[in-house]
Amino acid sequence: MIVLGVESSCDETGFALYDTERGLLSHALHSQVAMHEEYGGVVPELASRDHIRRAIPLLDEVLKRADLPASNIDAIAYTQGPGLAGALLVGSSVACSLALALDKPVLGVHHLEGHLLSPLLASERPEFPFLALLVSGGHTQLMRVDGVGSYTLLGETLDDAAGEAFDKSAKLLGLGYPGGPAISRLAEFGDPTAYTLPRPMLHSKDFNFSFSGLKTAVLTVVKNHEEKVVANICEQDKANIARGFVDAIVDVLTAKCVNAMKHTGLKRLVIAGGVGANKQLRESLNAAAARRKFKVYYPELEFCTDNGAMIAFAGAMRLERNPALAQRDYAFTVRPRWPLDELEAA
Ligand code: KG4
Ligand code: ZN
Repeated sequence: MIVLGVESSCDETGFALYDTERGLLSHALHSQVAMHEEYGGVVPELASRDHIRRAIPLLDEVLKRADLPASNIDAIAYTQGPGLAGALLVGSSVACSLALALDKPVLGVHHLEGHLLSPLLASERPEFPFLALLVSGGHTQLMRVDGVGSYTLLGETLDDAAGEAFDKSAKLLGLGYPGGPAISRLAEFGDPTAYTLPRPMLHSKDFNFSFSGLKTAVLTVVKNHEEKVVANICEQDKANIARGFVDAIVDVLTAKCVNAMKHTGLKRLVIAGGVGANKQLRESLNAAAARRKFKVYYPELEFCTDNGAMIAFAGAMRLERNPALAQRDYAFTVRPRWPLDELEAA
């Protein structure tokens, strides 16, 4: 079965073709980062308009790369939510109208399920069950995963998501959008002893997180700095602050994963979502895994952030398990807010 995946929930337009027999056939992505950069964050209306411009050329591109005619597609999976309503509507309407034209079934996919299952696209695939740390721009959750659609939430952030904390702290340091990769690169040159920032909820007995205090701590350090304004702070000191921030957030994420692994007795940990691309987080989790004798799995770097491949794959996994999900009802709806634990097991 060949599934076309369509992703448009935020600022990336992604298309991909996944074959349940041969694996990923092709994928293509357009990131809007450069367009939103000058506004310091995603502008929803601009995002929707750009998805419209990119969708059909990207579709042509994945078909060309896979050397397939559109008629070979067996089903179309699209991100139905959560995400920006206007952006979701573009991908959903493209997917449903294409499916109608080709007389193929469609399936709405949960964006976070796409992220959660994305490590299964890698050459070394984790088996179920596993613990998943989902760390994206909008979500930070620890989840027990027993199978496709079988997700038990163990804990989540009470305020900012990890990616949001990266982005906001980076902004406070005068770095561009999205700030995650930039603050992480800068932190590499920082002195780890210069600033020790708070590690919120590190010792709480639950699996919840809180990152807004950490962002405020970065703000306080900048304000209390003798230069007062971030633009006047020297590069080395900015790197030191970045290092203080990255060390704090990585410590909390690692400690919560280790505690949840102990609590559940699971032996496999899966990291999903954009922050999963973070180098320092990967190093820290790998070290913890070696000490505690569990195994960590990551998506390929290109599939950590939003992409069409994870949507094609999640759709294919669901359709393979339950062919009745293949609907020819093209009257689509989007679900900008959609809790992951509302999903039914496949
Ligand atoms: O999963 P994703 O592409 O989109 C959402 O579904 O939210 O995640 C985007 C988030 C952004 O906050 C971005 O700053 C962060 O992932 N991110 C990183 C890195 N790469 C992306 N954060 C830290 N280090 C990175 N290397
Ligand atoms: Zn995402």
